[in-house]
Amino acid sequence: MRIPIIAGNWKMHKTASEAVQFVERIKEQVKGTDVEVVLCTPYTLLYPVKEAIKGTNIKLSAQNMHWEDQGAYTGEVSPLMLKELGVEYCIIGHSERRLYFNETDETVNKKVHAALKHNIKPIICVGETLEQRESGQTNTLVKNQVVKAFEGVPGDRVAEIVIAYEPIWAIGTGKTATSEQANEAIYNIREVIRELYGEEVYTEIRIQYGGSVKPDNIEEIMNQEDIDGALVGGASLKPDDYVALVNF
Ligand code: G3P
Repeated sequence: MRIPIIAGNWKMHKTASEAVQFVERIKEQVKGTDVEVVLCTPYTLLYPVKEAIKGTNIKLSAQNMHWEDQGAYTGEVSPLMLKELGVEYCIIGHSERRLYFNETDETVNKKVHAALKHNIKPIICVGETLEQRESGQTNTLVKNQVVKAFEGVPGDRVAEIVIAYEPIWAIGTGKTATSEQANEAIYNIREVIRELYGEEVYTEIRIQYGGSVKPDNIEEIMNQEDIDGALVGGASLKPDDYVALVNF
């Protein structure tokens, strides 16, 4: 049984006081849920949010990390530092990092290994552009991203990893992929995992959908057989919206 996971990716939003107020607003309303509740915050909010979620069922995620434990990498944050802060998950390879900050399939793979080394669960983002979808390249592109992200990952660690399928053309646009499009892409990703790791693991790994997930479409998305959760941007920023997503 795969436990559903609803993760809010706050991207570059919220001050520490806003973040703590957010947790105070939602913690009672999400405690009865049977899904995994994860907040993916900017680095600056990890400590205050970690303090605020103590005693709750809310889990903490970073949005990125470096793959080295330490070094002359100005501005970077290491998995060692994240682990010390109590981070349980880390988004790796988000399309915005691939687009704006030179994230590659190779650096994604390095970060996946570094996260697992420190027992941080990767949320690996994959997804195609509209041009790639319209030219029929979606499955090939996404398969390549998955294969490269998982290179060298042993089978006994795969179930800890979450994959987030986020069609780039649906991110922040209000244009959500149809449930059929999302489920088909996620089914194909699951088949890639089966090819790589075999029958047992492929049924265990959780795969989210991300891209304009809202309270009014979460139920349909989550009713899809192969979809195990959502990675949500805009709709995770308001307490009432995020509570509605978690309690879909
Ligand atoms: O990581 C989730 C994010 O990329 C989706 O953003 O605003 O379309 O829910 P949004």
